[in-house]
Amino acid sequence: MLGDGTGATVAPRKTPDESALERARERVIVALDCSGERALELADLLGEEVRWVKVGMELFYAEGAPVVRELKRRGLNVFLDLKLHDIPNTVRNAARVLSSLGADMLTVHAGGGDAMVAAAREGIDQGASQAGLRAPRLLAVTVLTSLDQDALGRLGVDRPVADHARLLARLACDNGADGVVCSPMEAPLMRAALPEGALVVTPGVRPAGSALGDQSRVATPGGAIAAGSTHLVVGRPITKAADPRGAARRDHRGGRPGAVTRS
Ligand code: C5P
Repeated sequence: MLGDGTGATVAPRKTPDESALERARERVIVALDCSGERALELADLLGEEVRWVKVGMELFYAEGAPVVRELKRRGLNVFLDLKLHDIPNTVRNAARVLSSLGADMLTVHAGGGDAMVAAAREGIDQGASQAGLRAPRLLAVTVLTSLDQDALGRLGVDRPVADHARLLARLACDNGADGVVCSPMEAPLMRAALPEGALVVTPGVRPAGSALGDQSRVATPGGAIAAGSTHLVVGRPITKAADPRGAARRDHRGGRPGAVTRS
């Protein structure tokens, strides 16, 4: 803090580049798909470079609530990606517990229906209020990106995938969800279908020129933002890098804007 001559203190002014980097840090969510020990090691390694981490089924089922508490203790925002899908009463109670752990984002499957999404919202709000915490943002998964038109047809859904995803996204947001998780290819559709301010969180992000892994529909960080993503989920390009901190910093700087690629 610097003195401004009045006895008050003011924060040092950030350069435009630093401000842009700071905004980018708020958007990147590092997926910790690994052991509990490695997750905490990565959290320490990434340090100030990362504000958000994602805990999915693999890590949560192995380590449970303590790993969430440890990540929170390190000052990180936690996206708890457990994709709840059950009867409304069960989802309400599960959401209440997860919210009381201090999660900052939670996921449900929109396919659980309007009453289930509304129940998740209620549970989240109750859990946070009982624990004296800010309520997590509720995100809905629409059509899993692993399902194509044929697979959807075999589930008895004959409308185009995009129409089905839009229907589920609207249903979720009409019932208390704050946004959706979707591929960068669907981000423009979601942006157009959802209210201003809805979150559009996209995995499948790869810095230009990096390995795709098992992702086939990918965007660069800049491309995903240009497509309408509010947050980017990046896993292996950061967690498997020889220098995860350096890789995170490079991701914040983005790739070629507009570069959404199919393989
Ligand atoms: O390592 P990678 O960057 O591919 O990790 C992406 C993360 O986003 C993983 O945790 C993965 O499970 C998740 N995810 C995804 N595609 C979806 C939904 C979630 O890759 N459609």
